[in-house]
Amino acid sequence: MVLLRSVLAAALLSASASADGVVGSAFGFASGTTGGGSAAAAAPADIKELKEWLTDSTPRVILIDKEFNFIGSEDTCTDCECCIPDSNTCGSKGQNAIKTDGSDWCGSYPTTKCTYDNAGIEGINVASDKSIVGVGSAGVIRGKGLRLVNGVTNIIIQNVHFTELNPQYIWGGDAITLDGTDKVWIDHVKVSKVGRQMIATGYKSSGGVTISNSEFDGQTSWSASCDGHHYWTVLGYGKGDKVTFANNYLHHTSGRSPKLEFNSHWHAYNNYWENNSGHAFDVGEGVNALIEGNVFSNVKTPMNPDSKPGLTFAASSNDTSSCTSALGRACVANKLTSSGTLSGSDESVLSSWPKGESGVKVMSIDNVPTYVKSNAGTGKIGNAGASGSASASVPAATSSATPSASASAHAKRHIGKRHH
Ligand SMILES: *[C@@H]1O[C@H](CO)[C@@H](O)[C@H](O)[C@H]1NC(C)=O
Ligand SMILES: *[C@@H]1O[C@H](CO)[C@@H](O)[C@H](O)[C@H]1NC(C)=O
Repeated sequence: MVLLRSVLAAALLSASASADGVVGSAFGFASGTTGGGSAAAAAPADIKELKEWLTDSTPRVILIDKEFNFIGSEDTCTDCECCIPDSNTCGSKGQNAIKTDGSDWCGSYPTTKCTYDNAGIEGINVASDKSIVGVGSAGVIRGKGLRLVNGVTNIIIQNVHFTELNPQYIWGGDAITLDGTDKVWIDHVKVSKVGRQMIATGYKSSGGVTISNSEFDGQTSWSASCDGHHYWTVLGYGKGDKVTFANNYLHHTSGRSPKLEFNSHWHAYNNYWENNSGHAFDVGEGVNALIEGNVFSNVKTPMNPDSKPGLTFAASSNDTSSCTSALGRACVANKLTSSGTLSGSDESVLSSWPKGESGVKVMSIDNVPTYVKSNAGTGKIGNAGASGSASASVPAATSSATPSASASAHAKRHIGKRHH
């Protein structure tokens, strides 16, 4: 009894200790990411202090214990220049585009006046060795994104909701940008109502990254696809990125979920795509995509044909054993219901899979929708077990892989026209 009591007390202590910081530990390609490590967790008083703590050179565990609202904290651009791209066939229910300096994205599209919040346009440049951690379901950063650029490393973003970055406008703002970084764990994040990308990796290498247990909520009143769904979801353009993308919930999107190009490795497993009116994957040139154990429900185009496709191995029931020699385990077949088709059986993806992706546990496909919906996003840590890798019914693999405005600008050129 005494023993039991002290065991319980210890368990309670460690639970409350972890409530003050990162829960679980980074897995996948971001393994070893420690963020602010054992620095004392503290909550900034206001957006000014939050900005100071994010950008200074001190390792920090920064608690997001309330909403930090950046809207109106910089100028509001009134009567500014926007354009009406061809994709906007639905007027005020569509997205016009902000004319950004140095980008010819708007080309010869008709111009129009617009009003937007400058704070949303460019995110805060986060310094190395930070954990940015929401408390309970209170952690919201409204009206501004984060940029992990210029060589910063070792950053954890967990349990934070990013929302309302000029959602009316293409180029209104990206929630999280990686462009020249390494060791980044994005976990239990939620993104909604952004103008542009929910997550983007720019042209520079972003090294080892894990995006897990996160919710990409595409419901919007300003849709580039004119159907209430957000088009700009996840963009992976970094050369040399190795990304583990696991246990995420992507819903009500209409494109780029994700769009990948250039030389990178993406391992997408146990994600749940629901009600995507356009495409999920677009695997472009130089990309190696390993797609397994995911559920696609009501997804119009799970795999968009790319004009210069990369290499994809998307496990289906006839080829799960192809993984065994390379990964030391069978893959888990993807499941599609009321959806288009998912193609890709390029086994060279498996044989050339990079080392360093640890702690991967792919759960049984039947558990994915329920697990992901109860676990992904903010305020849900602990809902469905550990925050890191999900409990597994399949042996772990021992395998072992805005944009800056200009990158995004380039990216969008093929999409401004009409996206399919
Ligand atoms: C997805 O669409 C189906 C069919 O229209 C609907 O029943 C379901 O509620 C939708 N899911 C979400 C999360 O809105
Ligand atoms: C398995 O089935 C998929 C989808 O029907 C197909 O694209 C693929 O070529 C098949 N693979 C093998 C090894 O037969």
